Amino acid sequence: MELKGSTALITGASRGIGRAIALYLAELGAQVAVNYASSEDDAHEVVELIKNKGGRAVAIKADVADVQDVESMFGKVLNEFGDLHILVNNAGINRDGLLIRMKQEDWDAVLDTNLRGVYNCSKEAARIMIRKRRGKIINISSVVGVSGNAGQSNYAAAKAGIIGFSKAIARELAPRNIQVNVVAPGFIKTDMTDRLPERVKQEMLNQIPLGRYGKPNEVAYIVGFLASDKSQYITGQVIHVDGGMIM
Ligand SMILES: NC(=O)c1ccc[n+]([C@@H]2O[C@H](COP(=O)([O-])OP(=O)(O)OC[C@H]3O[C@@H](n4cnc5c(N)ncnc54)[C@H](OP(=O)(O)O)[C@@H]3O)[C@@H](O)[C@H]2O)c1
Repeated sequence: MELKGSTALITGASRGIGRAIALYLAELGAQVAVNYASSEDDAHEVVELIKNKGGRAVAIKADVADVQDVESMFGKVLNEFGDLHILVNNAGINRDGLLIRMKQEDWDAVLDTNLRGVYNCSKEAARIMIRKRRGKIINISSVVGVSGNAGQSNYAAAKAGIIGFSKAIARELAPRNIQVNVVAPGFIKTDMTDRLPERVKQEMLNQIPLGRYGKPNEVAYIVGFLASDKSQYITGQVIHVDGGMIM
């Protein structure tokens, strides 16, 4: 699998799954734009790791929920690399709480980052990719977007929304040779899941047939495949990387 000559933008690539995706796509030969919201040092560390191995990378600060930030980010990607072939919409947050206690701002924050962010970035990427009749958009949803989870109505709505959105644009963009797919991770060990109480972590573990949490790399490997030419005939699909939670 090779991504030499390709440019990839990965949102939320300063930490966790996005970081693993950025490092793996760079290892496959892609030039990588590492987007982050606030963790500047972490984003620069990812860029340095890539450069130290002979790759090309740039860190770009932008809030994916903010359309002006997003437009400026895509401008910077084009200035730096001249083109964009792969977009990975990975940036995401959670603000968990039961429905009757959920604050409006927690609903809005999660929908804005996790769903509006995917719309903002996909729209910019599609404009570039349509002209070249080539492109890969890979959206990171979640097992929770398929099965639901008590205490995560905002997160589940956004992650289910990503699936419907991706299937719609997969149909729109297929005639232009652009493939759009979704990766739905289960329970992956990152800052997002480290924050959960031990009781919740144990409950999650009990639901995983393979009996362990996933690693960020295990999500990155399938993203690498979906970003490559080896997946040219796959579009509109949801690939589960969850140790068997959804069968
Ligand atoms: N971990 C899991 O078990 C799991 C399971 C299913 C799905 N997912 C999904 O996988 C993705 C990555 O999760 P993770 O566990 O790696 O999370 P994480 O460790 O908390 O990292 C989140 C990343 O998203 C960035 N981000 C947050 N808000 C942003 C915004 N408004 N604009 C741009 N970037 C933003 C963060 O940037 P800063 O560092 O600058 O804040 C960070 O790089 C998310 O979409 C998440 O919902 C995770």
